[in-house]
Amino acid sequence: MPTALITGASAGLGRALAIELAGHGWRLILTARGAERLEQIAAELPHPASVTTIAGDVADPEHRARVVNSVNQLGRLDLLVNNASTLGPTPLRPLAALSPTELSNVLAVNVIAPFALTAALLPALSAASGVVLDISSDAAAEHYPDWGGYGASKAALDHLTLTFGVENLDIACYAVDPGDMRTDMQQAAFPGEDISDRRPPAAVVPALLELIQSRPPSGRYRADDVAVHSAAGAAVTA
Ligand SMILES: NC(=O)c1ccc[n+]([C@@H]2O[C@H](COP(=O)([O-])OP(=O)(O)OC[C@H]3O[C@@H](n4cnc5c(N)ncnc54)[C@H](OP(=O)(O)O)[C@@H]3O)[C@@H](O)[C@H]2O)c1
Repeated sequence: MPTALITGASAGLGRALAIELAGHGWRLILTARGAERLEQIAAELPHPASVTTIAGDVADPEHRARVVNSVNQLGRLDLLVNNASTLGPTPLRPLAALSPTELSNVLAVNVIAPFALTAALLPALSAASGVVLDISSDAAAEHYPDWGGYGASKAALDHLTLTFGVENLDIACYAVDPGDMRTDMQQAAFPGEDISDRRPPAAVVPALLELIQSRPPSGRYRADDVAVHSAAGAAVTA
């Protein structure tokens, strides 16, 4: 049974992808900090018996060790989705108003955690000729006022992703800019604003499935640029 680990799976894009993969018969390992919301999403999935939930912070090395152990016990990993992320302190503020500790905390979640999980899980991913999907942002490539800490972390994430890709030719590594989505993170970035014009995260999932299915060369992709074929998802069916 194809197996995926998704961080930040209790809301937004991670949750939407978990729902879709579960519908295609994947076994899932799901993480997020809040146990209650995580259990709730697991219970809503079509095959709860095929879902393992591990609540914890991806920035915590002990939590990551538990996650890696769980993967190794299952003995298979086809897809690692590094999706959990933080904006840092909100409302967002100019770079100079960010303390070194605050920037360090952003890097711990958005860079160190995906790096550590990917490095630890490379053997399992290689054995399955698997895929690493790192969720990036347009802020990795553009320079917006107040987005400097988050943007720097996503630029670093892109670099790590693409380097893992060229160093490990038996797996595929994608840094994907999903575009704006109507989620808690988007609302936190734009407090008080009406974000109802942003697309729901489920609208981005077909592009992610297309990458997993069609397996283009490792690299950075914008979800909007991924041509989704109607069969997207078929090849990721168990
Ligand atoms: N939304 C957008 O418009 C947008 C645009 C570009 C890129 N992105 C990227 O897309 C990805 C998904 O974002 P989203 O908008 O779907 O976020 P979201 O709705 O806020 O969901 C974030 C998920 O990550 C979990 N999480 C947050 N911090 C965590 C941590 N330290 N350890 C473990 N889990 C953690 C949250 O649960 P807990 O709080 O319970 O931990 C939740 O399950 C992120 O990488 C984000 O940077 C989003």
